[in-house]
Amino acid sequence: MGKKVTVVGAGFYGSTTAQRLAEYDIFDTVVITDIIEGKPEGLALDLNQSRPIEGFETRVVGVTTGKNGEGYEAIEGSDVVVITAGLPRKPGMSRMDLLETNAKIVRQVSENVAKYAPNAVVIVVSNPLDEMTALAQIATQFPKNRVMGQAGMLDTARFTHFVAEALSVPVASVKTLTLGSHGDTMVPVPSRSTVDGKPLREVMPAEQIEDLVVRTRNGGAEVVALLKTGSAYFAPSAAAARMARAVATDSGEIMPVCAWVDGEYGISGVYLGVEAEIGREGVRRVIETPLDDDEIASLKAAAEAVRAKQADVANM
Ligand code: APR
Repeated sequence: MGKKVTVVGAGFYGSTTAQRLAEYDIFDTVVITDIIEGKPEGLALDLNQSRPIEGFETRVVGVTTGKNGEGYEAIEGSDVVVITAGLPRKPGMSRMDLLETNAKIVRQVSENVAKYAPNAVVIVVSNPLDEMTALAQIATQFPKNRVMGQAGMLDTARFTHFVAEALSVPVASVKTLTLGSHGDTMVPVPSRSTVDGKPLREVMPAEQIEDLVVRTRNGGAEVVALLKTGSAYFAPSAAAARMARAVATDSGEIMPVCAWVDGEYGISGVYLGVEAEIGREGVRRVIETPLDDDEIASLKAAAEAVRAKQADVANM
């Protein structure tokens, strides 16, 4: 049987993710769902009509779901489910301000995913990301490797873009890394960042690196402040779609993702942004990257910050 992926939530993030997944042309079916009557069906129709122009055969199926899980039969057999349901930030809000509202949504969605797509790998993107990923695992009761969150690829892409722009070099010549939480305790990692293979610290003054680290940490808020009505979705959906593709193709790519950490870096029992090898089963293994002492200390601080919040979501 061919591959099937579901995107829950047909807002900006969900619809652009569905578009990217459909345009890869590697899935039989992309399902997109929402609670807004007609929206997923309309987007699916529109996307299907782009097939002759873009040249892909993937079928997009849109389904409105009801309060009691009506419509979720459509996700049956999904290899991957991307959860984008939930409110985005408004200017001035932190991701944490979304916690209670989005926890209700993510719990309800996760319970239906567990019921109708019990073998899927789940990729969470709703914010606050680290907490919503933990909650999705609790609510689905899926093995921890089968639930992960998207944040690190996006934060890393932002850092890379800022470095490339500052140095006027192609983005392809820049490699950066961002670990930790998708929030205040994000840990951009200059020691693992390079430009044309040279350490970033050799080609950029420390002060400028620090400025870009701060800008990366506030990367989402910068976009929210400009958009005023919602949050970023082009770069986020690019990251989520790549993760879903890595699962569907069992690619073994190493990506920065929000994954369950169990002993790596001396950290245990928490969902945290780390590098991981991604395949059919979700996270194949967490990769422990060599870090400077201060970076390890920051990662541990991030772990403790998200651990406290992740304990709270169990009761939400
Ligand atoms: N089931 C399915 N969809 C839902 C549910 C639910 N229970 N509750 C809300 N939604 C839908 C909304 O109807 C809306 O269409 O989720 C969609 C969210 O879309 P947007 O408001 O456009 O937000 P978006 O930019 O897509 O962000 C989604 O990703 O980056 C995060 O912080 C962001 O948490 C937010 C999420």
